[in-house]
Amino acid sequence: MADYPVKRIGVLTSGGDCPGLNAVLRGIFCSAEELGWEVLGFRDGFEGMLADGGDTMPLTRENTAGIMQIGGTILGTTNKGHFTSKVAGGEKARIPEEVIAKASRTCRDLDLSAIIAIGGDGSMSTALQLYRAGFPIIGVPKTIDNDLEATAMTFGFDSAVACVTDAMDRLHTTAASHKRAIVVQVMGRHAGWIALWGGLAGAADVILIPEIPFSLEKVAEVVQRRDEQGYKSTMIVVAEGARTQHGQQFRKQSASGEWRLGGVGEMIGHEIEARTGKETRVCVLGHLQRGGDPTTLDRILGIRFGVKAVHLAREEKFGAMVSYQNYEVLDVPIAEAVHRLKKVPPSSQLVETARAVGISFGD
Ligand code: F6P
Repeated sequence: MADYPVKRIGVLTSGGDCPGLNAVLRGIFCSAEELGWEVLGFRDGFEGMLADGGDTMPLTRENTAGIMQIGGTILGTTNKGHFTSKVAGGEKARIPEEVIAKASRTCRDLDLSAIIAIGGDGSMSTALQLYRAGFPIIGVPKTIDNDLEATAMTFGFDSAVACVTDAMDRLHTTAASHKRAIVVQVMGRHAGWIALWGGLAGAADVILIPEIPFSLEKVAEVVQRRDEQGYKSTMIVVAEGARTQHGQQFRKQSASGEWRLGGVGEMIGHEIEARTGKETRVCVLGHLQRGGDPTTLDRILGIRFGVKAVHLAREEKFGAMVSYQNYEVLDVPIAEAVHRLKKVPPSSQLVETARAVGISFGD
């Protein structure tokens, strides 16, 4: 054990879960233990700071053993609650003063010298507000969508792409057997990384992403042409946030009145049948992409992010967020990281590669 004063740090997982979160927790626990530090996990994200005394569980050798290879988060998470700092349309909301005061009391009573917040864009906005209110916060970025500009890659993305690729492999055989078109709707609210990578790896014929508005005529043309050329099936991958060339995006309202993206796959499937007569099926992969075990890459990224976060805590570099750049795990100020989305550049090499192998973007 290194010669550092005993410290206690807090950690929480916030926002949508993703494969690799437990690997980060394992990395945090093991590297903190090396320093002789204790790690206290808050349950259900920032919400865990609001219960009297904090809703916490200590991370131990026992409860972090064997978790790296398991999806989800042993701490629980939420993308709702008192700390929500993002409202519809990417607008920011202020966390109420009394919520900040209560959370601050909890952290002081627990004698935390650092808090590691693992989350996406919205959670990093919350972390920034808390940092500005005096919390010793360090951020760890997370999202399967891989759409945070401040880091070249987030853990969870590779696992989500592996899920799409596996689904495509399965859907190809049934599509060919029945001579159908299949529309596969994947996650990706603002950015089409999952659709692009999953579509390329899964041998899609059409990939539709938010960054390249598509035309239904063009998609139907591809299906028609492939039929004429004697191909049995056509596979279309569409990101949930894809838009038509008329700017139309597809959303559904839940029973609780909340708006969620959804419906673009159904609409495309319907239009393909109507325009070409080709029998078409739609498969929405949804939360399958967020569940399950992390890939090797996501485990390694997760461990590395966790270790880096503890090292930032040792340096007392609060307000910093772990960032992956050029194969190195570095850090950037959270303030620079929030609300800078990384979208697929329409003329990027990956898009050009896809076009070069005959994939259409419906444009
Ligand atoms: O941000 C990640 C993401 O997976 C989006 O692509 C998706 O729209 C969203 O989370 C779904 O979140 P939930 O259903 O958990 O609210």
